[in-house]
Amino acid sequence: MTSFAPSANIADLRESATIAVSARAKALRAAGRPVIDLGAGEPDFPTPAFVLEAAHAALDAGATRYTQVEGILPLRQAIAERASAVHGNAIGAENVVVTAGTKQALFNACFSLFAAGDEVLVPTPGWTSYYQMLALARAVPVAIRGTREHDLKVTVQDLERAASPRTRGLILNSPCNPTGAVYSRRELTEIVACAERHGWWIISDEIYRAISYDGEAASLLSVVADLDRLVVVDGVAKSFAMTGWRIGWSIAPPAVARAMTALQSHTTSNAATLSQHAALAALSNAEQARQTVDGMVAEFRVRRDAALGALRAAAIDVIEPHGAFYLYIRAGDATAEDPEPGTTFARRLLEEREVAVVPGIAFGSPEWMRMSYAAPADQVMEGVRRIIAARIS
Ligand SMILES: Cc1ncc(COP(=O)(O)O)c(C=O)c1O
Repeated sequence: MTSFAPSANIADLRESATIAVSARAKALRAAGRPVIDLGAGEPDFPTPAFVLEAAHAALDAGATRYTQVEGILPLRQAIAERASAVHGNAIGAENVVVTAGTKQALFNACFSLFAAGDEVLVPTPGWTSYYQMLALARAVPVAIRGTREHDLKVTVQDLERAASPRTRGLILNSPCNPTGAVYSRRELTEIVACAERHGWWIISDEIYRAISYDGEAASLLSVVADLDRLVVVDGVAKSFAMTGWRIGWSIAPPAVARAMTALQSHTTSNAATLSQHAALAALSNAEQARQTVDGMVAEFRVRRDAALGALRAAAIDVIEPHGAFYLYIRAGDATAEDPEPGTTFARRLLEEREVAVVPGIAFGSPEWMRMSYAAPADQVMEGVRRIIAARIS
């Protein structure tokens, strides 16, 4: 038998908890158990037909070869044009690197900006992979906990308290996974001013920006005067129901974009050529894209309102989501006997009531758990009924 001791690079690496929950739900389903999966972070809509048609046409035209590492020029131009419209000043293709999903854009940014001993502030609860990506870069993720009064968002005071001479940056995510909280323009302006005072980098993960319920969620591009110390990442996965196509991108100062391109040239090279053409279609057909996004957001809103109403009527503490497609639910107080009530509750819910949710420990808050409403409405509501029944039993 081969003996394997993981290298020091990955010795502390943990599997993505959100993916692990979905895998467990799928395994139970395969074993014949009728599990409702509210763990996944994936729109339950098909990729729009106009994107599929463009992909077929690109395949027929021979889009099967390597492209430039940083992505095909028309796609980078389309991304740059949209970013310029938000920023107000010109952003060019030289600022853009196309990646295999937003995940790769985030990893490239963490790996290129931060190194051993650098501290990076992560508003917590926060998306599970930020902590692991920073650790892979040998940087130190510093979890900053938001308070319940601020929907678990962090304030400048929270950041200032955590700052040290080793702090190099900050990762923002609005709308936020797992809470659905959205930072207002004023809150973002204050955070940017704080980062500027300290000379910190900001990585702004805006993958859920198109899915927001109270007008457009603000982009950091519309807040900063220039791109000097900002990397914005986004992608087509959530807003165009294109999770499996694996296309994301970063918008960064040209020197950073070049460094991330060099890193990518030794790891994955270009994102899949066919997928780049599909993403180009998604970004270039404004009217059809708008209809797709509006249709999804309308459906998510109906589910959010119904699920939120039922949970509140049962006096369950839940953050009101203003974006994304998650409900963050408080499972109980952490105690010496049960330091992770969210994990305990999620395990019981899956084994006894056949509903999969993600324990909050995956996002750095063990008292909570996340349910996704990116699932058919009847399953979402049945899941909510079972959560309520389990909560009060
Ligand atoms: C906050 C956040 N950022 C990034 C990603 C990764 O997106 P992609 O599928 O484009 O890699 C996800 C996916 O769940 C996410 O929730």
